[in-house]
Amino acid sequence: MHIHILTLFPNMFTGPFSESIIKRAIDQGLVEIAIHNIRDYTSDRHHVVDDYPYGGGPGMVLKPEPLFAAVAAIRGECGESEKGEAELPVILLTPQGRLFNQRATEELAKYEELILICGHYEGVDERVREHLVTDEISIGDYVLSGGELAAMVVVDALVRQMPGALGSEESAGEDSHSSGLLEYSQYTRPQSFRGWEVPEVLLSGNHAAIARWRREQSLLRTIKRRPDLLERATLSDEERMLLEGMRRGED
Ligand code: ADE
Repeated sequence: MHIHILTLFPNMFTGPFSESIIKRAIDQGLVEIAIHNIRDYTSDRHHVVDDYPYGGGPGMVLKPEPLFAAVAAIRGECGESEKGEAELPVILLTPQGRLFNQRATEELAKYEELILICGHYEGVDERVREHLVTDEISIGDYVLSGGELAAMVVVDALVRQMPGALGSEESAGEDSHSSGLLEYSQYTRPQSFRGWEVPEVLLSGNHAAIARWRREQSLLRTIKRRPDLLERATLSDEERMLLEGMRRGED
């Protein structure tokens, strides 16, 4: 997968993209991440990227020209000029976008290539939204200083579900949300810590019992913390009955 990020602050990405799972995925060639400085796509002497809002008001607005020029350059560079928006999504990170979740990650993972635009200041010129951007994503109902941290979140979520990105000791399949439920509780050594014991079943070696216990833990945790997720989770008949029991407080 090839991810292009348009930003005014390229240095913000240095740390997060040169550590851990993302770094390994880059080194393995699973993902290529190109950071483009929006300022490099200005054509005036002072490299102006923003301007005052028409109609007045506080803050500055990102100008359309550098963003259109950057996207055109990327499309040309990768021989994508023929590709329509369906093949090369241009995604604006903004608190006004649709909420990002695991399902959105799976959708985006289908693309070979995508462009993420990090908004800044008071916003971006509306013509960018109307005529350049194909999708708008928010990572939560709060306002960040810019789209950079949000872009990092999207990249991280995308990379960790790529086949081969996680080592054998790590697994995306067990992650919270990957099955539509929150993850079960995990324990490691010591078996007894300050008098708090690891649940017996995990020491039993009975894999079927452990799997059942974990699924129950996932259900319990989800019903307590995020009952909204249960509406869309895929559950067996047995799990539905278990859930009914939990709901009635029988467990
Ligand atoms: N830019 C500022 N706030 C944001 C958010 N919550 N999600 C995505 N991009 C943003």
